[in-house]
Amino acid sequence: MVTMISPIATVICMLVFPWLAYFAYYLVSRVVLWRTPADRKKPALPPGSMGWPYIGETFQLYSKNPNTFFALKQQRYGPIFKTHILGCPCVMVSSPEAARFVLVTSAHLFKPTFPASKERMLGRQAIFFQQGDYHARLRRLVLRAFMPHAIRDTVADIEAVAARTLRSWDGRMINTFQEMKTYAFNVALLSIFGKDEIGYIEELKKCYYTLEKGYNSMPINLPGTLFNKAMKARKQLDVIVAKILSSRRKRQAKFNDLLGSFMEAKEALTDEQIADNIIGVIFAARDTTASVLTWIVKYLGENPSILQTVTEEQEGIMRSKEMEGDKWLSWDDTKMMPMTTRVIQETMRVASILSFTFREAVEDVSFEGYLIPKGWKVLPLFRNIHHSPDNFPEPEKFDPSRFESSPKPNTFMPFGNGTHSCPGNELAKLEMLVLLHHLTTRYRWSLSGSEAGIQFGPFALPLNGLPITFSLKT
Ligand code: HEM
Ligand SMILES: *[C@@H]1O[C@H](CO)[C@@H](O)[C@H](O)[C@H]1NC(C)=O
Repeated sequence: MVTMISPIATVICMLVFPWLAYFAYYLVSRVVLWRTPADRKKPALPPGSMGWPYIGETFQLYSKNPNTFFALKQQRYGPIFKTHILGCPCVMVSSPEAARFVLVTSAHLFKPTFPASKERMLGRQAIFFQQGDYHARLRRLVLRAFMPHAIRDTVADIEAVAARTLRSWDGRMINTFQEMKTYAFNVALLSIFGKDEIGYIEELKKCYYTLEKGYNSMPINLPGTLFNKAMKARKQLDVIVAKILSSRRKRQAKFNDLLGSFMEAKEALTDEQIADNIIGVIFAARDTTASVLTWIVKYLGENPSILQTVTEEQEGIMRSKEMEGDKWLSWDDTKMMPMTTRVIQETMRVASILSFTFREAVEDVSFEGYLIPKGWKVLPLFRNIHHSPDNFPEPEKFDPSRFESSPKPNTFMPFGNGTHSCPGNELAKLEMLVLLHHLTTRYRWSLSGSEAGIQFGPFALPLNGLPITFSLKT
């Protein structure tokens, strides 16, 4: 998520709203933050520089690839350092031990934190923003719908979506990321609403696209702004979800999808809570999965021998299915794709689409002799951990075979760890495997050359969403 709630977008938006607070902040920060008496009986702040008041080191962060900023800081100050971006003093951590401390063992000392405009847009009661009992209850309901036992019967439906998606690319030049977004959206909708609510889905999609356009715009709520349109679309989404809820209540059937889990009597949520969490799950599920799939297409395109091995693995599965007269992939088939699985893992490591996540210290915390003051942001830097030669030798090399043995705890966290870790990870892996089965056995593609480079939008992505030409194998 950040988090999937795109941390970088989050940060970018934090740029715009507090200009008014700038002057006040300047005064306060001069007096309080930078001028604390040296003899205070507290542990010292971590090393690092805070840059200019308010602006902090924002320019340094955005003048380069943000990943370069993190890497340089770590080189200079070590795995725990302080900095100051977009109005927030923060501590960035990039050792497995520190990530474990923040996300797992002392998670209660660090709460999720997002700009208010993001909360309003997704819905204040969505899972990412919560702590404590309500969070635990939501997680139970989400996990119930997305754990292996619950999704294993949906493999054939996901496969149908994958096959249909790939067919629609045949003979075209496509923007890989845009097309993967459509795929991930359709799979997410299937896992939330099942196959039944087709009547409402087109309308829901339209509103969601408007919401998305406003999400990364400046949070200025005046008529005509993207933000304003997005807020209206958000209200419209509540109406659509309410219609779906009432149609389900009339039917009184039992549903095994996410909506069914949210509506189940014993732990039922309010309609508003349901809407906030459905929008939230779509948000968490779509661009993340689509970015990873886009990187996979790129890395396979650039590494013909790895593509060959994956293709052979998938052809083997296809042949054995044909012999048994099975038409559709099963859950068990997807557990017999070790090469393909390692390609997915290595892609998530190298690309580290969620470079980091955000928390906020709820009290003064001391860690390894350093003070993390109450109210400061704390950013576990997943990407630095995934690119440390201590954890992964020759870290910049794309080499799926490194996952033949499992990585050490807290060195590989594409789905985070601890209380807010990704409850959709099984579904994400499943839909990627299923798509890759059809992609490698039936189709060929070529990268349109000259597409080196990364864009951040807000996840790390190949430049221009990776245009490719795509066709059926002959
Ligand atoms: C490859 C694709 C995906 C990646 C890399 C990914 C990554 C992550 C990460 C790193 C977090 C934790 C963020 C944090 O600790 O701050 C997270 C949270 C979350 N993810 Fe995913 N995710 C993916 C796909 C999905 C899918 C498909 C779904 C739903 C179907 C989903 C639903 C969620 C939700 C609801 C949370 C919030 C959990 C909480 O706050 O308790 N994600 N994801
Ligand atoms: C999450 O943290 C626990 C406790 O440190 C650890 O056992 C587990 O391996 C970690 N998970 C990942 C994905 O690193």
